[in-house]
Amino acid sequence: MIKLKSAAEIKKMRQAGKIVAAVLQEMERAVAAGVTTGSLDKRAERIIRRAGALPAFLGYHGYPASICTSINEEVVHGIPGLRKLQEGDIISIDVGACLDGYYADAAVTFAVGKISPQAQKLIEVTRRSLEKAIEAMQCGAHLSDVSHAVQSYAEARGFSIVRSYCGHGIGTAMHEEPQVPNFGRPGRGPLLQPGMVLAVEPMINAGGWQVEVLADQWTVVTRDRSLSAHFEHTIAVGENGPEILTVL
Ligand code: MF3
Ligand code: CO
Repeated sequence: MIKLKSAAEIKKMRQAGKIVAAVLQEMERAVAAGVTTGSLDKRAERIIRRAGALPAFLGYHGYPASICTSINEEVVHGIPGLRKLQEGDIISIDVGACLDGYYADAAVTFAVGKISPQAQKLIEVTRRSLEKAIEAMQCGAHLSDVSHAVQSYAEARGFSIVRSYCGHGIGTAMHEEPQVPNFGRPGRGPLLQPGMVLAVEPMINAGGWQVEVLADQWTVVTRDRSLSAHFEHTIAVGENGPEILTVL
């Protein structure tokens, strides 16, 4: 069952979304060669708590940190620690916050200094594929139109779509129905209507679509160790079109 949100609930999610956006803005400033992923996590946690919210990922199914930091061939769920960023890396940072019981979730892939043209293209295509998905989030569209928007945009540019992880509904839980795959035929699934809030999160690989989980039981990597990028926003379907909640 998809739970529709009231205007008051969306207001709360907008507030949670602004906290997530502020963290990502600070992450953009902080990302640099020599910086450890653990220090990014501490900074993020401080910002979330000072804003009166809780880090949504910390303790979720035992996850040990407040953000996910996934570098290069890491797709999602990379655990922050002592690893230092290096010039030429790309790093996907995923942030979730819970304010007064309402969740917001967003992710961005950043470049560390100068990166390869291929990495740059992967980041741009993944960012644009999320924009295409958001444009598809109109009342009366089908859920799979959103999925198809990501797939058609990214595959046409030579990249592949991660299939075993999806976007999701979000609200009073981080993960609610429905699942939002990043691939599929258009015109399928539930109709989008005002009050639906989705976290849409394309995960796009430079090589093959297959992924595996490392021995730490969290870090998802591409099977062929090709680069992967990840962008995510929390978006409400409104009568006058989609509203991105994870923006300042
Ligand atoms: N954006 C990711 C998701 O929606 C973040 C979850 S990370 C976890 O699943 F650590 F909390 F699992
Ligand atoms: Co998510």
